[in-house]
Amino acid sequence: MSNFLILFGNTTLLSKLEFESLYPGLNLKQLDEHLFLFAAENAVAEKMMDILGGTVKLYEVVKEFSNQISDKELIEEIVAFLLNQSNEPYFSLTQIGKGQRSISNADIKDLIKENGKKARYFSSNPSESALLSHKSRATELLTFNTMQEGKLLLASIKGVQDIDDWTNRDRNKPYADRKKGMLPPKVARMMINIALGVWQQKKSGKPMLYDPFCGTGTVLLEAGMRDLAVHGSDIDQKAVFGSRDNMEWFKQEYGRDITSKIFYMDASHINPEEFTSKIDLLVTEPFLGKQTPHDGELANVFKGLEKMYLGSFKSFTSILNDGAVIAIVFPRVQLSKRTYSLEGLIDKLKAKGYNLLVDPVLYAREGARVARQICLFSYSRQTNNT
Ligand SMILES: C[S@@+](CC[C@H](N)C(=O)[O-])C[C@H]1O[C@@H](n2cnc3c(N)ncnc32)[C@H](O)[C@@H]1O
Repeated sequence: MSNFLILFGNTTLLSKLEFESLYPGLNLKQLDEHLFLFAAENAVAEKMMDILGGTVKLYEVVKEFSNQISDKELIEEIVAFLLNQSNEPYFSLTQIGKGQRSISNADIKDLIKENGKKARYFSSNPSESALLSHKSRATELLTFNTMQEGKLLLASIKGVQDIDDWTNRDRNKPYADRKKGMLPPKVARMMINIALGVWQQKKSGKPMLYDPFCGTGTVLLEAGMRDLAVHGSDIDQKAVFGSRDNMEWFKQEYGRDITSKIFYMDASHINPEEFTSKIDLLVTEPFLGKQTPHDGELANVFKGLEKMYLGSFKSFTSILNDGAVIAIVFPRVQLSKRTYSLEGLIDKLKAKGYNLLVDPVLYAREGARVARQICLFSYSRQTNNT
């Protein structure tokens, strides 16, 4: 077991839910706005960066000192650690949180030089997912003062989000439809992981995932990254063909052999015959209404959406396995005096067998009029009294 520091992206609540769903045995302790501590086996931590969508960086705690340590001693410790790693360190130190006097990369470099060795450093902004330590063999160090416990933690980078790879799936797939709005791949991955993690806590085996509003297939591709078999459908034939093209591109690009079936279907009138098996994970971003609705039309827009969502949830029951988990986006518009959302549906859905598992988590892009609420339900046949 080792201690690790994990730096979540801006979607901290969603990132945390993703982590906790996939690793229910690992206790997260919040240290700073985006920084958390946990203990885990190395083999588990090593795989995390390839799995998680909402994590920017992962560090391993390599040393713990009293937080009364002098700057000079701390620099000596850091230099000893770096020289142990490499004869010519390429490094960066980030200090997160309160109660630390600033230590410069230059001070560390000077002491390395005094030891007769060469060193280079780079400046690292922890909230940016710097690629440096991913691409080069750079050592990114982090210090954190735990304050009450009187400890200063020194941690070294273990993994960084592979931004190029995320961008590849976001930008380079053959079919895109930005007018309809596309789910960011990282959000799709978090939704999949949350649903998958919750499902795995009760069930075993290989679940089947379905996105009934697949659009360009973002959810399907991210599910492919998790080696899940998928069904996808859309009411727009262009989206059906486009998602198929994207899936074929994905299989080639990533050399993955994923079972996929993508077809035309109105989500509120599902035909179970199209499905090769029942569904365990339903992960989707339905039509959210216009991207920039006027204030005056919002009441009607939300009425229409409520009808479509309810119809779709009713129709899902014909293809869901008992114990299926649903991660779905609800639209939300906040005006100065009024909020429009579909939260009113939650009670109605309960009568149909859908139980809300956690409070909806808000995901809002800066400047976007329609925000997304990520809602998580479990489906139980017994409580479906229709
Ligand atoms: C917001 S887009 C989904 C985007 C998708 N998550 C992506 O990243 O590309 C919503 C999709 O729902 C589809 N849609 C709208 N009403 C539908 C219905 N009743 N049944 C099935 N699909 C529908 C639209 O054609 C559109 O492709």
